[in-house]
Amino acid sequence: MRFETLAVHAGHEPDASTGAVTPPIHLSTTFERGADGSYPHGHVYVRTSNPNRAALERCLAALEGGAAAVAFSSGSAATMSVLQALSPGDHVIAPVDAYYGTVRLLHDVFVRWGLEASFVDMSDLPAVERAMRPRTRLVWMETPSNPLLRVTDIARVAEVARAAGVRSACDNTWATPVLQRPLALGVDLVMHATTKYLGGHSDVLGGAIVAREDDEMLARIRAIQTTGGAVASPFDCWLVMRGVRTLPYRMRAHSANAQAVAEFLRSHAAVEAVHYPGLDTHPAHDVAARQMTAFGGMIAVQLRGGRDRAMRVAANTRVFTRATSLGGTESLIEHRASVEHPGTTTPQNLLRLSIGLEHVDDLIEDLGQALGA
Ligand SMILES: Cc1ncc(COP(=O)(O)O)c(C=O)c1O
Repeated sequence: MRFETLAVHAGHEPDASTGAVTPPIHLSTTFERGADGSYPHGHVYVRTSNPNRAALERCLAALEGGAAAVAFSSGSAATMSVLQALSPGDHVIAPVDAYYGTVRLLHDVFVRWGLEASFVDMSDLPAVERAMRPRTRLVWMETPSNPLLRVTDIARVAEVARAAGVRSACDNTWATPVLQRPLALGVDLVMHATTKYLGGHSDVLGGAIVAREDDEMLARIRAIQTTGGAVASPFDCWLVMRGVRTLPYRMRAHSANAQAVAEFLRSHAAVEAVHYPGLDTHPAHDVAARQMTAFGGMIAVQLRGGRDRAMRVAANTRVFTRATSLGGTESLIEHRASVEHPGTTTPQNLLRLSIGLEHVDDLIEDLGQALGA
């Protein structure tokens, strides 16, 4: 089946007991046993499994082309499960330009538990090779990256990891499986913050890991999910499933709008730099064009006039809302450095834009007037 068909049908069957076409939300925390002590419907207790979560996990595995998926209560909980599945003394290679929450998890939580981490520029393959150690167990990618939209050559980094006998993982939150399929490029694990484009409406917190193989690593991740209990709630699973139905159409519109906004920004006198992989001036535009079918809805823009100018532009937008996060229908603008940790390397003159589904002319006019204010 083609992607659009999978997005509508994977994990969605009419409810067997009522015929409801839209799936019910199963709030029950527990499930009846048969007289013989068995579990005829396959579910025991909600932390272990639930019909809505099982459906979402089937759906996400199908969308990413994986063997299985495991759904969590947030993207960060999903990332954490992969790190928890490693052992003290293991070493992780992660990108210098990763979502700051991932960096914080590695630095603040897991280093205390005995994991070691190196942060490298993933566009520099020899640097990834040099960072390998005997105890390296995971190479973590994020592409396009947050917030500088750096692009990693997924197939080549996955190959470097595989040659060293190391698992690779890719945070595919910003691209989604509509635009980029890391498992098909050789990656072992895909991570999603379903909070973003998969949910698509800024009303759900969730995460997932999708694995190429249902192997012992995934068994450990699943055990962390079911014993630790950072699971996606039934309603949250239902919301993500609803979002996924329109995902391919939304991603095409986000990408088309973002391309036009990025081209407008690049020619504006107030702009110092635009970071968008769809621009031919992006240093890894050719890599992005090879591994993505379109370039997504996220843009970072650096302004002349430093932090003050950036704050002023964010203060003056009318269609863009000043807020963190991304992937919803509405456009958001954010002074990124001030929401990240102290000591962030994000430039102070940088605004991050999540380009929504409004008419692109309204977005461009809004940015135009805010840049001139
Ligand atoms: C690329 C990326 N990964 C992971 C996360 C974390 O997701 P969550 O907020 O659901 O924990 C985010 C959140 O912004 C993100 O942008």
